[in-house]
Amino acid sequence: MISSNYYYVVTLVIVLISNVPCEAQLSSTFYDSTCPNALSTIRTSIRQAVLRERRMAASLVRLHFHDCFVQGCDGSILLDDTTGERVALQNNNSVRGFEVVEAAKQAVEAICPGVVSCADVLAVAARDATVAVGGQSWTVKLGRRDSTTAATRAQAESDLPRGSDSLQTLISNFANKNLNEREMVALSGSHTIGQARCVTFRARIYGNTNINPGFAIMRQRQCPQTGGDNNLAPLDLVTPNSFDNNYFRNLVELKGLLASDQVLFSNGSSDSIVQGYINNPRSFQSDFGAAMIKMGDIEPLTGGNGIIRRTCGSAN
Ligand code: HEM
Repeated sequence: MISSNYYYVVTLVIVLISNVPCEAQLSSTFYDSTCPNALSTIRTSIRQAVLRERRMAASLVRLHFHDCFVQGCDGSILLDDTTGERVALQNNNSVRGFEVVEAAKQAVEAICPGVVSCADVLAVAARDATVAVGGQSWTVKLGRRDSTTAATRAQAESDLPRGSDSLQTLISNFANKNLNEREMVALSGSHTIGQARCVTFRARIYGNTNINPGFAIMRQRQCPQTGGDNNLAPLDLVTPNSFDNNYFRNLVELKGLLASDQVLFSNGSSDSIVQGYINNPRSFQSDFGAAMIKMGDIEPLTGGNGIIRRTCGSAN
């Protein structure tokens, strides 16, 4: 005879199983049946934007990074919010490309309304932008949903790294997001494209330690000791518009623009990773793609969580 205890245990197991939250996984085929032309539509839009302005490629990659590091890859940075994450020190007057993401999103809305999230449009945009300036492609995982609110300014300021951070701080900052030292170095390689404002590298070019003296003087011309905070300089002085491994070559010549760039090659644990990416450019490209996939996996909203925003700048 089966005891009542048995039924109790079976019932308990069933109840427990049915309450396990459904952790939906991202998948590269997520829109294959619901919006088969989503990816080609985004690609066309991003290619046009990068053709108009090469720097936009850099800005889009960075926007995806800043989205993922703060409250997960949920499109929250795209929300037009004047008090939250957008005005964090690391974002304010700095992140750009919102109108390009919005244009790509609207192109997708025109073919499949209410299906593709802004967070996914941004993840695909970052990949397409990288490829448009010569980087190697990777397969973007999809199925993220959008947040309804932006993160706070305080959260963004603590989650996003700063150009003055030490190697140890950078390593632990990325470890907090489940990215190891090698992935941190590979991802920093995206500073092979794009620009930085004088205010972010002034201390380094006037500090005179661990910097190539000729390089410091060259950068000082456009970045005075006072004023000119928004004057721009390329993060990679050699090929600022191509996604190559020159960023790492600069580091061994002590020509990293940000302090956080140069710390990756300053007699520390990451020197050998930098050297490896110089010796083997293909390993940089494939590690970069793999790390972008992992970064795109940071705390996504899936399944019944979050929404599909109709416009990326506001929560429907
Ligand atoms: C390792 C820690 C990092 C620090 C401290 C850092 C810091 C910075 C700073 C200070 C700037 C210049 C911003 C300005 O002047 O307005 C910048 C630009 C940029 N960052 Fe990073 N970054 C880091 C990692 C990353 C990662 C992981 C990515 C992407 C995967 C990335 C992509 C970029 C790009 C592409 C630009 C140029 C953007 C443009 O031209 O619009 N960075 N970063």
